[in-house]
Amino acid sequence: MITASAPAKSILLGEHAVVYGQPALAVPLTSLRARATAAANPTNISGLRIMGSGTDEVLPLEIDAEMVDNALALTARLVLKHLGVVTPPNITIALQSDIPVASGLGSGAAVSTALARVLCAAVNRTIDNEALNAIIYEVEKVYHGTPSGIDNTVIVFEHPVYFVRGVPPQRFALHRAMTLLIGDTGLRASTRVAIDDVRALYMKDPKRISEIFCAIGALVERGRAALATGDLAQLGELMDANHMLLRELQVSCPELDRLIEAARSAGALGAKLSGGGRGGNMIALVEHEAVEPVRSALLAAGAARVLAVRLGGASDGDFR
Ligand code: MEV
Repeated sequence: MITASAPAKSILLGEHAVVYGQPALAVPLTSLRARATAAANPTNISGLRIMGSGTDEVLPLEIDAEMVDNALALTARLVLKHLGVVTPPNITIALQSDIPVASGLGSGAAVSTALARVLCAAVNRTIDNEALNAIIYEVEKVYHGTPSGIDNTVIVFEHPVYFVRGVPPQRFALHRAMTLLIGDTGLRASTRVAIDDVRALYMKDPKRISEIFCAIGALVERGRAALATGDLAQLGELMDANHMLLRELQVSCPELDRLIEAARSAGALGAKLSGGGRGGNMIALVEHEAVEPVRSALLAAGAARVLAVRLGGASDGDFR
């Protein structure tokens, strides 16, 4: 039996504007993961089978079926093509994920990354992260239409990134430990639809929407500087400002706004939606002593689930 995994991600600042060439900052959530396990097929079954995850439903996918619009089948196909493997192995890959789907945490990219890694290992081959990232980006297009590439990059490299579309990503270090509370609205939302709607808004009023994108990009630059000096109060203010701009892009929703307001009122340094928006998860930056009050406030405001993640310092990715 062979296993592989990949983490969830969270965007600290810059989603949506990053699709239009502005910078963004994202971190992997290393303890919230998608996992893939490969095992030999039972004797009466041949070919590559992929068993889906997330629900009790099992999705067997024949790799030779004409289903390239299916993200998992596409992942397997692209990996085998890259490796020059003509005959798919006789294995069953089972996928399991802790990451809620369609919730802004990169579930699709993480599942595809885990699948790609286990498939490589199952055929006794390795793939470097650059090549894997390019494959997962192709797959992301199935999920998101016109993704920037930030999700696959932070998930494949599993390192905090300062990302500009089309430019090699730059890693950054989190010198000072920080705690994020991740509050789930419980609403599932399509990133693809959110991206398409932002594009429609942009087409209607390119000047105003470009200004919003540039304002978000400027916040990201200041956020990068705040992270470099460990100025978490400043980072929190920038997250608040970023959320206001995301509201102008119409990618928030009442449920996200309610959680964000609750987190701020309970003492968070800042809070915003994270990812595509319209549902999914919000993030709140909190000092240690505010973790419990903010967590309680989020739950009281209707969060379906609240997770605390410690980033940077000695406990990068300590998740509970
Ligand atoms: C989704 O996690 C982030 C977006 O900016 C889309 C993308 O960058 O591909 C909304």
